[in-house]
Amino acid sequence: MNRKIRKAVFPVAGLGTRFLPATKAVPKEMLTIVDRPVIQLAVDEAKEAGIEHFIFVTGRNKGVIEDHFDKQYELEETLRARGKNEALDKLNEDLPGAGQTSFTRQQEPLGLGHAVWCARELVGDEPFALVLPDMLMHAKKGCLSQMLGAYEKYGGNIVAVEEVPHEDVSKYGVVGCTDQVGDTFRITEMVEKPAIEDAPSNQIISGRYILQPEVFAKIENQNPGAGGEIQITDAMIALMEEQPFHGYQFSGKTYDCGSKIGFLAANVAYGLERDDLSGDFKAVLKEILADSDLL
Ligand code: G1P
Repeated sequence: MNRKIRKAVFPVAGLGTRFLPATKAVPKEMLTIVDRPVIQLAVDEAKEAGIEHFIFVTGRNKGVIEDHFDKQYELEETLRARGKNEALDKLNEDLPGAGQTSFTRQQEPLGLGHAVWCARELVGDEPFALVLPDMLMHAKKGCLSQMLGAYEKYGGNIVAVEEVPHEDVSKYGVVGCTDQVGDTFRITEMVEKPAIEDAPSNQIISGRYILQPEVFAKIENQNPGAGGEIQITDAMIALMEEQPFHGYQFSGKTYDCGSKIGFLAANVAYGLERDDLSGDFKAVLKEILADSDLL
């Protein structure tokens, strides 16, 4: 019987320099897709997968993330007084339960692996999910829920993967694999940000992981890798000598909200899906495209 995945780690310490000046005073994870912050969507996905404890690895200037997952009495009073009960209920629905969140800080930007390692005491000795909020995984059934199916079957460590055009592989971690069975395969090789000619495939590590706690010891012994940073991929490569890793091809669409195009595309896609917005939004989009000679 595989141990239940109860905890999820959200690394949210990054500076978000690609979104300046928006991210000067506002964390990039608080930028919104329509009206939900990117980090809220990541938490929604984890909640749907049955996660009970949400661990945020934050940094300086990220205080509003903690506020976002807390009650806001003044606002609630105002909504109540104005009879806006639906909005009030929705706010409460989004709120994690008492004691279900933890926040720790990555004091120096030493890399994703180091950020995950900062959560080691909060995770303890149990398998956990790692969710990179920048990668917005859009699907009817959330990516993490889908991965739990593979975890039940194979145990060990599961990494969500997806195919990208070959010229894009250097932006990501890339896996090599044995023969694929359905949507899952055994990972035989991983490399972080390879040169195009060195990439073992065009299957990238796409931002959701189920990891065994032994990964923390591997991170601890990890030298800086790609970009001079301590990489989670390198720690996984070390752990792969002792434990199985499976790649899971999630069914749905990924928006890389760490890039401007991905972020804009996510807003369009999510906006077009909303019953309360889609009609008007489509009309406005058509108008804009026609006016700009893009249609
Ligand atoms: C991180 C991981 C990389 C993964 C990517 C997905 O890279 O190190 O393996 O493919 O996230 O977004 P980063 O985007 O932090 O450079």
